[in-house]
Amino acid sequence: MPVITEIEDLRRIYKRRVPKMFYDYCESGSWTEQTFRENSSDFDKLYLRQRVAIDMTGRSTATQMIGQDVAMPVALAPVGMTGMQNADGEIKAAKAAEKFGVPYCLSTMSICSIEDVASNTSKPFWMQVYTLKDDDYMKRLFDRAKDAKCSAAVITVDLQMLGQRHKDLKNGLSAPPKLTPKSIANMATKVPWGLEMLQTKRRFFGNIVGHAKGVTDPSSLTTWTAQSFDQALDWDRIREFRKMWDGPLIIKGIIDPRDALEACNVGADAIVVSNHGGRQLDGALSSIRALAPIMDAVGDKIEVHLDSGVRSGQDVLKAVAMGAKGCWIGRAYIYGLGAMGEAGVTRALEVIHKELDVSMALCGRTDINTVDRDILMIPKGFSGDWED
Ligand code: GLV
Repeated sequence: MPVITEIEDLRRIYKRRVPKMFYDYCESGSWTEQTFRENSSDFDKLYLRQRVAIDMTGRSTATQMIGQDVAMPVALAPVGMTGMQNADGEIKAAKAAEKFGVPYCLSTMSICSIEDVASNTSKPFWMQVYTLKDDDYMKRLFDRAKDAKCSAAVITVDLQMLGQRHKDLKNGLSAPPKLTPKSIANMATKVPWGLEMLQTKRRFFGNIVGHAKGVTDPSSLTTWTAQSFDQALDWDRIREFRKMWDGPLIIKGIIDPRDALEACNVGADAIVVSNHGGRQLDGALSSIRALAPIMDAVGDKIEVHLDSGVRSGQDVLKAVAMGAKGCWIGRAYIYGLGAMGEAGVTRALEVIHKELDVSMALCGRTDINTVDRDILMIPKGFSGDWED
């Protein structure tokens, strides 16, 4: 058993264990991947202010996200095709999250269906919702989430069409994988992954196949997003969704203060500052640089979370210090899941928790709820000094 001390250790094991097509799907940004890279590298430009000789006993990272208790301000982000990274991946990730005491958010593009995750877990999870043209599908999706007792709906607003990720096209990404000489040759080197995958029936988009109409190739994410997603989406349509769901609502995919203000007007409970992990608009600002202007615009009106680029507890601490009530991690737990299933997700959460706890203490704070901008040294111009 290798010694795992950081998220990067999990990524290395993951890369060896999982077919290239699914590793590449996770580890890609769109086009040149500028935003994907800067999401993480911009965190490194923020410095933590070290303080000493302050009593650091009795620490706590416990807090709340949308009024729900969390062991640390971290949620597992919705990730498409999680069940291709490891057999029954969504169920395993949800189980790890509930044991750790952090929220799990299931993607519309999941392999395990809402009902399947609900019947294999005991705590409510959050349901991410893509905005499709088909009104019946949308109503049923919200109803299914309600029947599954989901404790929040998360509407993703930054994917009316898919940003191009070159590797997915070159690899012929699909779920289940299409059997081509190239994919067979690669999968032949991933035997433990394949044996587990053969033992489960969950190999299709569980919330799409048998639910969405008019999709010619439901195994291809590119095809069905192009056919089903609503390019005409606007804030009025999002207000209609608000009427379909009367529980807690989170709007995910905001990077501009003007859109943050719009999200406040639809009656959401929280927004997620996110550029979709650098997978949509390449050239967009990193989430951590976008956070401060959004906090200034809506921080007193709505709870603000952040995702994209978070790979460590130090990243979580920096985002919380800038005002986020919590961070969502995607790749950081997928590495763990791909590497070692449920135990790997738990390990990823443990790594991030320890980094957060110790770094918070070394900044002289013992309670995550007291962390503020004073623990940060923010370079001038970090949040932008743009031409009009
Ligand atoms: C879907 O959400 C994706 O980014 O592939």
